[in-house]
Amino acid sequence: MWILILIPFLLAEPSTSTSLDLTQAKGLLNTTVKLPCEKPCHGVVKWVKVRSPPSQTIAHCENGTCADFGNKATVGLSGNIFLLLPQAALSDEGGYEGHCDGKVICDVTLELLAHHNTAEVRIGDALFIGLLSSEPVRVTFRKASHSTDDLVCVVEGAVPLCVREYSRRSSVQDYTVTFTNVTESDEGVFTVRDSNTMRRLNIVKLTIKDGLQNKMNEDVGTFKDNVNVPVPDTWQFSIPWEIALFIGGFILNIFLWKILAFGKRTYTRIRNTFSPPPQPEETLGLAPFPGTNRSSIQRMRAEESALGPGPVQTKDVVHSLQ
Ligand SMILES: *[C@@H]1O[C@H](CO)[C@@H](O)[C@H](O)[C@H]1NC(C)=O
Ligand SMILES: *[C@@H]1O[C@H](CO)[C@@H](O)[C@H](O)[C@H]1NC(C)=O
Ligand SMILES: *[C@@H]1O[C@H](CO)[C@@H](O)[C@H](O)[C@H]1NC(C)=O
Repeated sequence: MWILILIPFLLAEPSTSTSLDLTQAKGLLNTTVKLPCEKPCHGVVKWVKVRSPPSQTIAHCENGTCADFGNKATVGLSGNIFLLLPQAALSDEGGYEGHCDGKVICDVTLELLAHHNTAEVRIGDALFIGLLSSEPVRVTFRKASHSTDDLVCVVEGAVPLCVREYSRRSSVQDYTVTFTNVTESDEGVFTVRDSNTMRRLNIVKLTIKDGLQNKMNEDVGTFKDNVNVPVPDTWQFSIPWEIALFIGGFILNIFLWKILAFGKRTYTRIRNTFSPPPQPEETLGLAPFPGTNRSSIQRMRAEESALGPGPVQTKDVVHSLQ
């Protein structure tokens, strides 16, 4: 893997230090691309974009400090004088010259490549496609079975103009077009092209995911560069995970049983404390219920009133009789 990445740089190594370094550099659109120049320079370094007249100075370095001219370019100064161009656009393609003290030491041609993406989206979700250009672009669609590219949208100044099937579902933000509510008929290949040159910028192969398995996967609607990543099934746990889950469940069970046992013991203790036997209450003269208490008092009063005035009345009766 790393060997493969390093091969272009190894091949770019100059055979002799006096020859002009002719290099063909390639990079992906809208990424940071490197223009190699494997030669040291201890004087004034200058990078010039050529063959796109007029020639344009990209960067100028003197006494260890560099000035860039709008490209936010970075120049290597220790060992060699490579140039890094961030967010490379189609307009950055072409020839470059690396100068050392006014002498051309490197000649680099930059070519930018389109992105190849795969996207897996489930029905009803949204598809995001990077436009990779701030210039006008057009988006086409090709059904897997068909051979023709049909125009879907023309995007100019972040405004999408789309054909009827897509007009209500499309929007553009941050150089990304979004198609919402994806359906099965969207399965196929979307291609973003530069409107002026018709150069391909981004190719997205969309597959529709369906069924339960896809609902479990959260990683939808995104695309990955140049790789066909198999979708991980979140329900498939690895064996260490299964063991960990089993032990965890076992411990949790024991814990819950302990809590239940403690609760039961506490409940029994509380019940014993707050409900003593009924006899002591009766010896204290307290009726178990207030209603009974009141009625017994009323009954006692009734008995008193029946007995109390009794003798008086009897006296009266006696008086009246006398
Ligand atoms: C760089 O250094 C040299 C001598 O050390 C000086 O003459 C020159 O002005 C410096 N240039 C800049 C841009 O600082
Ligand atoms: C380029 O990529 C950056 C993120 O790396 C993104 O913010 C920007 O919008 C992209 N530009 C274009 C023109 O696609
Ligand atoms: C998505 O598309 C389906 C079928 O075309 C339609 O029935 C549904 O209303 C659409 N949903 C939204 C939110 O547009």
